[in-house]
Amino acid sequence: MKLKHAFMLAASAVLSAAAFFGCNCDGNSCSDDAPAKAAAKTKPLVVYWTWSETHNTKVVAEMLQQKTGADIKLIEMVTPYPSDFGGAAQAGQNDLRQPKAPAIKEMDLDLSKYDPIYVGTPIWFSTYAPPVRTFLQSYDFKGKTVALFCTHGQGNPATFTYLRDAKAAVPEIDYFADVFAFKGTDAANAGPALDAWIEKVNAK
Ligand SMILES: Cc1cc2nc3c(=O)[nH]c(=O)nc-3n(C[C@H](O)[C@H](O)[C@H](O)COP(=O)(O)O)c2cc1C
Repeated sequence: MKLKHAFMLAASAVLSAAAFFGCNCDGNSCSDDAPAKAAAKTKPLVVYWTWSETHNTKVVAEMLQQKTGADIKLIEMVTPYPSDFGGAAQAGQNDLRQPKAPAIKEMDLDLSKYDPIYVGTPIWFSTYAPPVRTFLQSYDFKGKTVALFCTHGQGNPATFTYLRDAKAAVPEIDYFADVFAFKGTDAANAGPALDAWIEKVNAK
């Protein structure tokens, strides 16, 4: 009897210690499940394209990176648009009329590690800049939430067709319903609005 009692005491001490240290024990093995849970969570990714000299979309992208702990990637064109407004606008308009243009550089990107994926663009002609459409067409976003953000000029965000056009170009993507839009010249002040939006994306 004494031996049985001692055994029960020892067993309950092991179980208590396991509970205290947050371990999962199944009789054969004990494992701390915290690292397993952490490993199962994936990391956010921020991907963006920018054109103007002030790189407003980059400003918001880097803010997002800092706030979410995301990795960040820049979309680069194989042949960049001209640096003058007229040339870029004409090339951009031509590309928007094509189903798949322009070509972008191959990105060293393993999307399986990431969720959500934030995709940012300057608004061009009330929608995404064409290299951003190419990016959405180039990767497999199955099982991911893609949250779109943009910076813009004088236009009214309610009239932008970024989300609608992205849905039309790549319908199989699970897009977050709200696009984050911020005036480019004010990009440095996007922080509070960005916080509220990130919270909504994370709550999805
Ligand atoms: C070719 C071109 C077209 C643009 N079209 C629009 C537009 O339709 N609506 C708008 O509000 N801003 C428009 N803009 C302004 C940009 O969206 C805005 O300046 C943006 O913040 C630039 O981002 P970036 O610095 O990352 O390139 C346009 C800019 C360019 C160069």
